[in-house]
Amino acid sequence: MDTRPSSIPRTSLETISFKPTLHVFICTNDRAQTGDPRPSCGPQITPEMVKEIKLWIRTQGLTADIYCTKASCLGFCNPDGGVMCIWPQGIFLKGITSVDEIKQVISDEARRVGL
Ligand code: FES
Repeated sequence: MDTRPSSIPRTSLETISFKPTLHVFICTNDRAQTGDPRPSCGPQITPEMVKEIKLWIRTQGLTADIYCTKASCLGFCNPDGGVMCIWPQGIFLKGITSVDEIKQVISDEARRVGL
């Protein structure tokens, strides 16, 4: 059955029928070396930290339930730390400073949704 919304044209695009319970996006955008004076999540939050989170999710046995994706700017840049969001809840958090904080946020939300 074709589950695409009617607004998506019928082309060679194929819908992937997979829906994780949580999809976590973590910004690693780094403006430190660009001359752009605006604050950014990197280098405080790094791609290596996101990789560590993905491995941790795997060790929790939640690979099929929790997707974690490294993201570029999520639009809430601030000088206090990184930004992450969780879908489909649409929860945005800023001020992230460590892998442990990210794990705690994911653990709390996973518990809240019954994972
Ligand atoms: S740089 Fe991370 S939200 Fe903008």
